[in-house]
Amino acid sequence: MKGLILSGGKGTRLRPITHTGAKQLIPIANRPILFYAIDALAQAGVDDVGIIIGETGPEVRDAVGDGSRFGVRVTYIEQDAPLGLAHAVRTARDFLGDDRFVMYLGDNLIADGIVPLVREFEGSAAEAMILLASVPEPQRFGVAELREGRVVRLVEKPPVPPSDLALVGVYLFSSSVFDAIDRIEPSARGELEITDAIQRLIDDGRDVVPHIITGWWKDTGHLGDLLEANRMLLDTLEPRCDGRVGEDVRMDGKVVVEAGAELRNCVVRGPAIIGKRTTIDNAYVGPFTSIYYDCAIRNAELENSIVLEKTRIHDVTGKIDGSLIGKECLVSTSPLRPKAVRLMLGDHSRVEL
Ligand code: DAU
Repeated sequence: MKGLILSGGKGTRLRPITHTGAKQLIPIANRPILFYAIDALAQAGVDDVGIIIGETGPEVRDAVGDGSRFGVRVTYIEQDAPLGLAHAVRTARDFLGDDRFVMYLGDNLIADGIVPLVREFEGSAAEAMILLASVPEPQRFGVAELREGRVVRLVEKPPVPPSDLALVGVYLFSSSVFDAIDRIEPSARGELEITDAIQRLIDDGRDVVPHIITGWWKDTGHLGDLLEANRMLLDTLEPRCDGRVGEDVRMDGKVVVEAGAELRNCVVRGPAIIGKRTTIDNAYVGPFTSIYYDCAIRNAELENSIVLEKTRIHDVTGKIDGSLIGKECLVSTSPLRPKAVRLMLGDHSRVEL
């Protein structure tokens, strides 16, 4: 079996963060989302992995390298434009050849991994296997209609969903999917949808096996999803302290302090993670907070938030909550008069005061 991870696309729902970086590299519990996908494939014994890259390709290549540290061999496959999931699969045709493969969307997180699913598909004659999960807002996803345990219809983001079963971003295919992709047209949003290609397989009478998962799964397309994923994964970490923690620091619950981090005169209430070389001084870091590397937090309070690398937050009155703060940002109180809120925000930024 081969693996195909999709790490192209535009990430418009996470602007402005995705104006300057790949959404698949946003850290959850201080680890890029994409790394969890590579781990999931490695655990399932899939060690020949293609990664679809787009505009953010150089950054993805830098972060992942040749894959050896994950125990896999990575081949990068450039997609000229984000023309859809099925277009991405077609772009990877030479890499995939006639092998059966697992396609994994690089912005999806599945807590229980995919080991049994890969085993089941390997040992079956099915042409495709899809994963489904019951969700509260099916209209945000591809949606499946089942009859007597078989898939009869798949629709991409239907305004009136036929069920609450969303397509999870992991699919298992045989090479018959290429022929199906060749016979679909772009959707209303101008993309070649994998959902339509699977519908083709169903209409051709091919064996498409649904597998309903009950464990935790997240498509990290929106801010709320990222924060929820962060809460979920932080809770699974083992507490550890590889940095320097002053005697005036109180740490409650599961807290991870990474190497080179320095904490002085503060309260950290876990689950939380403080990244490499980050300093926390006279501050409160509350539950479900991930602070990435080389940050500096001083005279400030934050919780339930994700802070990316090299960001400084100091002298802020009022608690920062439910926030995603990008790389190399500065959040502070200005000493200048008049007392006012002064902003320099990138396009599509959001501020709630
Ligand atoms: O997350 C599950 C959902 O993923 C499914 O329920 C939907 O049926 C499926 O179409 C997909 O919907 P999204 O709208 O969430 O897909 P998105 O555009 O976010 O792309 C998913 C991943 O694939 C993401 O990591 C970006 C990457 N991608 C996307 C496109 C359109 C590519 O690599 N190339 C592309 O052309």
